[in-house]
Amino acid sequence: MRLKGLLLAGGTGSRLRPLTYTGAKQLIPVANRPILFYAVEAMVEAGVTEIGVIIGDTGPSVQEALGDGSRFGCRFTFIPQSAPLGLAHAVMTAESFLGDDPFLMMLGDNLLRGGLSGLVQRFAAGDYAASILLTPVPDPRQFGVAVVENGRVVRLLEKPDPPPSNLALVGAYVFQPVIHRAIHTLKPSRRGELEITDALQTLVDWQLPVDAALVQGWWKDTGRPEDVLDANRLVLEDLQAGIDPSAEIDDLSQLSGRVQIGPRARIVRSTIRGPVIIGEEAELVDAYVGPYTSVGPRVVIRTAEVENSVILQDSELTDIPGRVDQSLIGQRVRVSGAPQRPRAVRLVLGDQSRIDL
Ligand code: G1P
Repeated sequence: MRLKGLLLAGGTGSRLRPLTYTGAKQLIPVANRPILFYAVEAMVEAGVTEIGVIIGDTGPSVQEALGDGSRFGCRFTFIPQSAPLGLAHAVMTAESFLGDDPFLMMLGDNLLRGGLSGLVQRFAAGDYAASILLTPVPDPRQFGVAVVENGRVVRLLEKPDPPPSNLALVGAYVFQPVIHRAIHTLKPSRRGELEITDALQTLVDWQLPVDAALVQGWWKDTGRPEDVLDANRLVLEDLQAGIDPSAEIDDLSQLSGRVQIGPRARIVRSTIRGPVIIGEEAELVDAYVGPYTSVGPRVVIRTAEVENSVILQDSELTDIPGRVDQSLIGQRVRVSGAPQRPRAVRLVLGDQSRIDL
């Protein structure tokens, strides 16, 4: 079965401000690669190569990062959405691109460890109007929630309180073109959006079969800073160790665990404990970089300790007292401190922030 793809990369990313003032939430990197790239790769791996990309205000940066698709082995068509009016509104916006084809839809700020091939295969093997992926979550009130009986979805609700089950929709869906008809019957939800969850409920109301499977591996929605750090940790769990031959590491530095070091990086009198990824031309001098840290390209860490953190490109951390832990630091940020000052610092800093400690 030939599926088209629909990748959602619009939205405002308000919960990730200030990082999203200057860029798309889907382009925030985990393990030094934009979150969006993982979704593209999962789609291509599932055999979907003609992909419509819904873009909003941050469209130009998304377009620039993705290119025409050739380097992922697919072809992108960029589709501007007038305003972030919901997932079902995004599908409506893409209607002429999608035509009469079944399609795989994925949210560009979601990460799925198990990939999308299983979902696509289930859909292709059955006679379903839609197939969705679900996973149990501790607080289902933040998500779309499904009730499943005998492997069949019988009820769906968006952000229900109280929730009728603990099974959340994870942002990956396969649809037959009948979904367009369902979407045309929708009214905006309480939050003023056209909800894809309500469109799925409409299919159920029409007695059409909606199939659901549980996520294998893990799933992460990266809406908030702590989610980005979690996602980073999960992706780094699978990191391949490797040191680029052009990287310079002096004899006084110590590396342990899985460490990946990019081209022309310089490591001087520093300790790195993996899993850690260091981007190209990054510079570590008298530094400690601990587990689950992604250091972006051209980042400088001098006389400082960092752990469990994501540091975006071109930022500088120097003379930091205490350890930087659980922090998400944007691009071109400068953090510097004097010795003998208070210990722990916990930071969520946007691009071009400047902090003197
Ligand atoms: C959206 C969907 C929701 C789904 C979630 C997954 O929520 O509306 O059904 O569970 O994505 O990330 P939103 O991110 O718009 O709050």
